[in-house]
Amino acid sequence: MVRLAAFASGRGSNFLAIHRYLLEHSLPARYVLLISDRPHPPAADIALAEGIPFLHINAKAFESPEEFAATLLKELEARQVEWITLAGYLKMIPSQVVQRFRGRIMNIHPALLPMFGGKGMYGEHVHQAVIESGMRVSGASIHIVDENYDTGPIVLQETVPVYYEDTATTLAARVLEVEHRLYPRAVELAIKDKIRLHGRRVEILP
Ligand code: GRF
Repeated sequence: MVRLAAFASGRGSNFLAIHRYLLEHSLPARYVLLISDRPHPPAADIALAEGIPFLHINAKAFESPEEFAATLLKELEARQVEWITLAGYLKMIPSQVVQRFRGRIMNIHPALLPMFGGKGMYGEHVHQAVIESGMRVSGASIHIVDENYDTGPIVLQETVPVYYEDTATTLAARVLEVEHRLYPRAVELAIKDKIRLHGRRVEILP
């Protein structure tokens, strides 16, 4: 069994989509931990209902960023976590954690990276920026996490159309549907060890 951790700040619908996919497809991987920067996000209720341990670990509660990173690492290592999936986690992952889990942290972004990413580009802000840009397509991107926001190698992407009538809300809903399909597939590739990184480019093994 590949042991997974999820990091989420809010709703947790991607976390749930992945969890269900693993069960439905009898894949050899399970979530053993959910971590949030918030004390009780909706994602925590999902974890509770599914019997997945939840931890609230807030960077602000620590004296230093190093102590925060050390606590995250201690919890991840205590549960022998092998892969981390970020799903709507709004905080930066400390570089010590990125280093220790190099190439084994994934994130989902609700637009086509490397456009429309970076600090402050989350939730409705992303979709509003896409609409204002005039782009006729948007989509979802799954990428490997590095030390910056949304800049790591891209594993999978899928597009959706952008209509003139779209609002951030309607576009977000269209992208979210794709997210729930795409993220479980990326996790499946990860647990089957089919992802190879070559600098910025990602090879998916057959
Ligand atoms: C998703 O749109 C994801 O792309 C972004 O944050 C949102 C999280 O939604 N990173 P949920 O918490 O998985 O429902």
